[in-house]
Amino acid sequence: MSISKKEYKRVTTNSLIEMKSRGEKISMLTSYDYSMAKIVDQAGTDVILVGDSASNVMAGHETTLPITLDQMIYHASSVVRAVQRALVVVDLPFGSYQSDPKEALRSAIRIMKESGAHAIKVEGGHQIKDSVKRILNAGVPVMGHLGLTPQSIYKFGTYTVRAKEEQEAEQLLKDAQMLEKLGCFGIVLEKIPAQLAAKVAESVQIPIIGIGAGSEVDGQVLVIHDMIGMTTEFSPRFLRRYLNLFESMTTAISEYVSDVKSKRFPNNEEQY
Ligand code: KIV
Repeated sequence: MSISKKEYKRVTTNSLIEMKSRGEKISMLTSYDYSMAKIVDQAGTDVILVGDSASNVMAGHETTLPITLDQMIYHASSVVRAVQRALVVVDLPFGSYQSDPKEALRSAIRIMKESGAHAIKVEGGHQIKDSVKRILNAGVPVMGHLGLTPQSIYKFGTYTVRAKEEQEAEQLLKDAQMLEKLGCFGIVLEKIPAQLAAKVAESVQIPIIGIGAGSEVDGQVLVIHDMIGMTTEFSPRFLRRYLNLFESMTTAISEYVSDVKSKRFPNNEEQY
């Protein structure tokens, strides 16, 4: 599906909840820059996440921890300028919301004011309850993120599947219900057993978007660079690569380099 200029109707937090209630699956992908966001939006993606995974795929850091609020605002404003239809959700980066609710609200307001995005996403459940409440009270839509929350990677010590044990699974379910009660419009569940994700999706009215959380949830999200095969080093079981862009780009760029060296580029038609 591709969206023509006249066809689009803006996706809102309410339309996502309606999609869940009529059983229509929600598509979500990341974007961090204008050109990519334009393609992702025009291809019909419902939600564009300006993820703090920008720290990995755009800046080359090992984790999502180093990215700053200013850097997230830069990425988010580039994306917002490109998007006509999708809902744009922006990650609050590590350190910008965990210490106290007032700081969390200040960070959320900066994202909304300075980038023009439509909503923010935060990682965690009961630990950040007061911050989520404060942000929601200011009228900023909030998406939750539970399961494998990459900002806590040094606490987990590993990127393996979360909530396999009963106690963690029960807490995750409670956290999801709490986030719904507070007023969040959706939750990302990352890398947890499919059965648990299905149970969470069934127990709340708000959309549950999975990444490595099976098919019985309300939508799916992937990091765009992984999905189009620009990255090669990351190959979890849940990732489906729809292109091998790393290979196609390497071939095209090598051909360009060779054409420049051999003076085949530019030819007579490619000059003034
Ligand atoms: O930062 C990100 O890209 C994310 C997705 C993996 C859900 O949070």
